[in-house]
Amino acid sequence: MNANFDASYPTSHSADNRYVHGLDRQYVFHSWAQQGSLDPMVIAGAQGCRVWDYSGREYLDFSSQLVNTNIGHQHPRVVNAIQAQAASLCTIAPAHANLARGEAAKRIIAKAPDGFSKVFYQCGADANENAIRMARLYTGRSKILSAYRSYHGNTGSAIAATGDWRRVPNEYASGHVHFFNPHLYRSEFWARDEEEECERALTHLRRVIECEGANAVAAILLETIPGTAGVLLPPKAYLQGVRKLADEFGIVLILDEVMAGFGRTGRWFAFEHYDMAPDLIVFAKGGQLGLCTGRWRDYL
Ligand SMILES: Cc1ncc(COP(=O)(O)O)c(C=O)c1O
Repeated sequence: MNANFDASYPTSHSADNRYVHGLDRQYVFHSWAQQGSLDPMVIAGAQGCRVWDYSGREYLDFSSQLVNTNIGHQHPRVVNAIQAQAASLCTIAPAHANLARGEAAKRIIAKAPDGFSKVFYQCGADANENAIRMARLYTGRSKILSAYRSYHGNTGSAIAATGDWRRVPNEYASGHVHFFNPHLYRSEFWARDEEEECERALTHLRRVIECEGANAVAAILLETIPGTAGVLLPPKAYLQGVRKLADEFGIVLILDEVMAGFGRTGRWFAFEHYDMAPDLIVFAKGGQLGLCTGRWRDYL
């Protein structure tokens, strides 16, 4: 049992695993799951990298919940900041100016590459939706290219941009085209090494752009490091190659850093490992909520 486990924690005073599990099974609908066969693990509290249930049984949280507790659970500075903010102002409409919102945006921009100027506060899937809309409005084009090995969220365009199996029954948004991203272990390109995989994946992407009509493509949307698809590190030169293709054809490059961003790869943004920068960065999870805008000064 964790030494910090506090049996008097308000949510645990009268609850036990059986009661919480029963409540969940009776009333809670879970995402992306066949409801009838679910048997969720009960979690009563957490500290750092550990979580525990109501009996005090402790587990290491190897998945950081949904890969979002980048600095661990219940960091005292985060808890204090949330408590202080809740005591002064719990909510604010988008139209107003607010110290915390402005300060957070200023600090995020300080970490972003040169030319990034604004933060648009969103949830992960919403941030992808808005990045897609911005790219369409900015270019006057409609198609969005994204990878088969990807997840971008469960809303209209975000799930249509997603490559994995969850897209197929949910494809109601139009204008989405998919391509194969590099993954040497299960190469779609019969490649023998990383260099070959990279070169062939870039040739494939060029062909997809040409075949879809370069003047019709608004954006390429990629997870910098695909996460849900299996933590697939792209070949070193791949993202630079995608950047070049986007520039050549006037396509907006959106990097989804919802899972990989905000320190998870050892840098603030995962694309910093690849000596390139996108036009739009999408982040959420460990990076709170948001979307950074890049080369948009004239437009904004
Ligand atoms: C890469 C990526 N993009 C977008 C999302 C969607 O974020 P959210 O669930 O906060 O809407 C996720 C969620 O797992 C993700 O991993």
